[in-house]
Amino acid sequence: MKKLLITGSSGFLGSRLALYYKDKYELLLPTHSELNVSREEAVMAYMEQFQPDIVLHCAALSNTWYCEQHSDESHRVNVQGTVKIAKACKHIGAKLVFMSSDQVYNGTPVSEPLKEQDVFQPVNVYGRHKLEAEQRALRNNPMSVALRLTWMYDVPSSPMKLNSNILVNIQKALDEGTTIKAATHEYRGVTNIWEVVRNMEQTLELPGGIYNYGSGNHIDSYTLFLKVANIMGAKEPSTFILPDEERFSEQTRNLTMDCSLINNFGIRFNDSVEGIEKALMNRKP
Ligand SMILES: NC(=O)c1ccc[n+]([C@@H]2O[C@H](COP(=O)([O-])OP(=O)(O)OC[C@H]3O[C@@H](n4cnc5c(N)ncnc54)[C@H](OP(=O)(O)O)[C@@H]3O)[C@@H](O)[C@H]2O)c1
Repeated sequence: MKKLLITGSSGFLGSRLALYYKDKYELLLPTHSELNVSREEAVMAYMEQFQPDIVLHCAALSNTWYCEQHSDESHRVNVQGTVKIAKACKHIGAKLVFMSSDQVYNGTPVSEPLKEQDVFQPVNVYGRHKLEAEQRALRNNPMSVALRLTWMYDVPSSPMKLNSNILVNIQKALDEGTTIKAATHEYRGVTNIWEVVRNMEQTLELPGGIYNYGSGNHIDSYTLFLKVANIMGAKEPSTFILPDEERFSEQTRNLTMDCSLINNFGIRFNDSVEGIEKALMNRKP
């Protein structure tokens, strides 16, 4: 059995990867304190001792707002931590797949689905750090695979760790009788996290490089929220989902991705709305 190391295995994505692949690989699941990715000696020592064949690097500071307020810490974990993992993987000959984000496109003035080479200067710290991590990890270890993930979700009834996501946020508003504002000048894909998890095995075969990785979407965020609330059974979604016409009115925010590169390798995702319909109907994505 091959050895699979998952960093950040207590997190939203890492915990699901660990559950799904537990019988297919010998898993190495160090906690944050057992393998702090921002400590170089610790990373190299861990890799040399446990010799994983594959590393799925999910450890990160994943909250964009937190990163904006704590730029140095974000750089230490999201950039330097990823570079340390990439160097250590090269040193022991392990295949590395690490998690980047569609936030690298945040601020890119293109209205079509974005291609991997379409990046300008991301407007937030998190996006800039993910972009720098991609560039430096690949420079140090050209066999690395960087996945630009969209905002992901799982169903609100999941017993596992849940992050703030489109379904949870709508369910919360329904339960608490509150309102949600969604931007009419924003376009972004949302992806069922289990599609990401199931596609990961095939992803291990990808050559080193950067890949858009998630569901497409052609409707603005306000329309998407209305549709999703409708699918979730809300009677009159427009009474609690309100259009935010101000946000991004100067430049539409487009994070939607063209995934033809991974499609060429046989890796596919549902469109955002279709993925949500399947997730809520409990159908296999
Ligand atoms: N969730 C999304 O929708 C989304 C979208 C795009 C990209 N991504 C990316 O996908 C990856 C996984 O995201 P996620 O949602 O699973 O994040 P998450 O739920 O916030 O989990 C992050 C994990 O990283 C660990 N961690 C943080 N700092 C660490 C350090 N210095 N050393 C070792 N471990 C550390 C955390 O452990 P503790 O909790 O013990 O600190 C936790 O297990 C991240 O790279 C994220 O940026 C996520």
